[in-house]
Formats: sequence, C-alpha cells, structure tokens
Amino acid sequence: MKKIFFALLAGTFLLTACGETQSEPATEGLKPEDITLPDTYDAALAEATNKRSCAGCHGVDLQGAGAYPQPITGLTKEEVYIAIVEGVGRMPANMVTGEEAENLAVWIAAQ
Ligand code: HEC
Repeated sequence: MKKIFFALLAGTFLLTACGETQSEPATEGLKPEDITLPDTYDAALAEATNKRSCAGCHGVDLQGAGAYPQPITGLTKEEVYIAIVEGVGRMPANMVTGEEAENLAVWIAAQ
C-alpha cells in the first residue's frame, strides 16, 4: 500500500513538472541585447513574407490596416523581431519563424 502511495506521489510531481515547462515558452521575455540580427536583408523575400503573414493587419506598406491602424515602422529590428516571436496583445506569436522572421524584422526596421 505504501508503495502505491509513493508511486502516485511521484507521478503527481512528474505531471506538475511537465505542466510547468510547457506553459512557459522558451522565448518569453526575449530582450533586445539577447538577439543578434543580420545587418542586411533580402527585400523580395521580406515583402513576400509581409504580404503573406502581416499585411492583412498592418498593410502592405506597414502603415496600418484594419486590425491595427498604426504604422509598425520606426521600431528597431530587435523590437520588431520580439513582436514577431512573442506576439503583441491580440497579435499571435510565431506567425513567421527562423531566418525568415529575422529577415522580415531587419527589412521592416529599415523602411
Ligand atoms: C491578426 C492581425 C495581425 C497580424 C497578422 C500581425 N499583426 Fe502585428 N499587431 C497586431 C495588433 C492588433 C498589434 C497591436 C497589439 C496591441 O497593442 O495590443 C500589433 C502590433 C505589432 C507590432 C508592435 C508595434 C509597436 O508599436 O510596438 C509589430 C512590430 C508588429 N505587430 C509586427 C507584425 C509583423 C512583422 C507581422 C507579420 C509577421 C504582424 N505584425 C502580423 C495585429 C497583427
């Protein structure tokens, strides 16, 4: 009986531990100083990414559209990258990832 009790107890701890790691995305709290982004960008790729994933809410010219009528220009590339990775308010996180996200952030900051 004692063994079963300890098995249950251990199981509960394991479940709790798993739940905690899953609810905390690894990228949460990303800081500008933690990010290294390229200095150059592929404009054609960035424009395509923007049209596909961002323009619906921010406009093809980044000056704002239906969901968010303010421009997203005038930010640093790190700020834009963090917005892409973590999401902002009602904006979903990780719509674009990896090098495509880096390229997009650098391009947006340069507009
Ligand atoms: C579903 C609509 C939607 C899509 C798609 C979307 N965004 Fe957003 N975005 C928003 C909203 C809404 C905000 C403002 C959030 C708030 O303040 O609550 C925002 C905010 C931002 C900001 C922060 C602006 C600031 O002044 O801090 C950046 C940068 C940004 N978005 C970039 C992007 C990029 C890049 C993409 C494409 C990968 C994208 N967004 C796709 C809705 C969207």
